[in-house]
Amino acid sequence: MADLAATVADIAARLAQASARGRVADYIPELGRVSADHFGIAVVTAAGEEVVAGDGDMAFSIQSISKVFALVEALCRHGDAVWDRVGREPSGSAFNSIIQLELEQGRPRNPFINAGAIAVSDLIAAGDASSAIAAILARIRRLAGDVSIDVDTAVAWSESQTGYRNAALANYMRSFGTIAGPVDATLSVYFQQCAIAMSCRQLARAGRFLMAGGMLDGAAIISPERARRINALMLTCGHYDASGDFAFRVGLPAKSGVGGGILAVAPGRASIAVWSPGLSPQGNSLLGTQALEELAHAMGWSVFNPEL
Ligand code: DON
Repeated sequence: MADLAATVADIAARLAQASARGRVADYIPELGRVSADHFGIAVVTAAGEEVVAGDGDMAFSIQSISKVFALVEALCRHGDAVWDRVGREPSGSAFNSIIQLELEQGRPRNPFINAGAIAVSDLIAAGDASSAIAAILARIRRLAGDVSIDVDTAVAWSESQTGYRNAALANYMRSFGTIAGPVDATLSVYFQQCAIAMSCRQLARAGRFLMAGGMLDGAAIISPERARRINALMLTCGHYDASGDFAFRVGLPAKSGVGGGILAVAPGRASIAVWSPGLSPQGNSLLGTQALEELAHAMGWSVFNPEL
């Protein structure tokens, strides 16, 4: 097996120089100000080793990666009642697609597409937006072991001023009762959770419980069964209509965000975060995916590898 530190350093050095970097998201204006030149990576192993390279300590907007932590918060509060609101099937459509909602009576396919995540935010909020965002933030800080993590208010404001499509999804779901609380309060939670800023190192630390069957530093964050199930959802739904291709190329549960970050989990082995702001047409980090493909291949980390 390859040496982890050398492999990470090699990937970071090469991808920092890559010429085809994808397109930075600009439908949230504040995200469009970030340079496509960044590349960061951080790996935390089950043994506690941390390997960080490139811009791995620079904070970026985690965007849809927050949906994993919000799902944990919702499951801890409401248990399996979460699945009365959202499904567990890959959507095969874009992260912000609206068409499936009408065909399926306002029930989102899964908690990682925007509609599903907005429904999960609503469940956590139960009408109280400020305590909901405080709870999501507190959970992320606890998982990362870092109280400095916070919402980037400029990004949250930017999305709240331009998030017409999410407002449409939320209002449409409200008409079916999938969303119970006031739409504005629900969207406020959702926009703020997406605007949380973290570095690759902080994100990789926050993902440790998913590599360790729900355990963190000897305490159970969630049950082993829930950890397995969240990993299953990340593998099947974490990259939207590119989830199949990501499983084919990388073979690890992972969640992407339009800020260019990806959190990936090699169960029993490592929690990995990568960041490069340029995106594929499906809205997933182009070089981040390439980095994970190379790392997983070099280390033999795939959930389809009999020796993982
Ligand atoms: O709702 C949105 O459009 C963004 N706040 C999050 C979308 C996202 O990160 C999709 N991921 N690749």
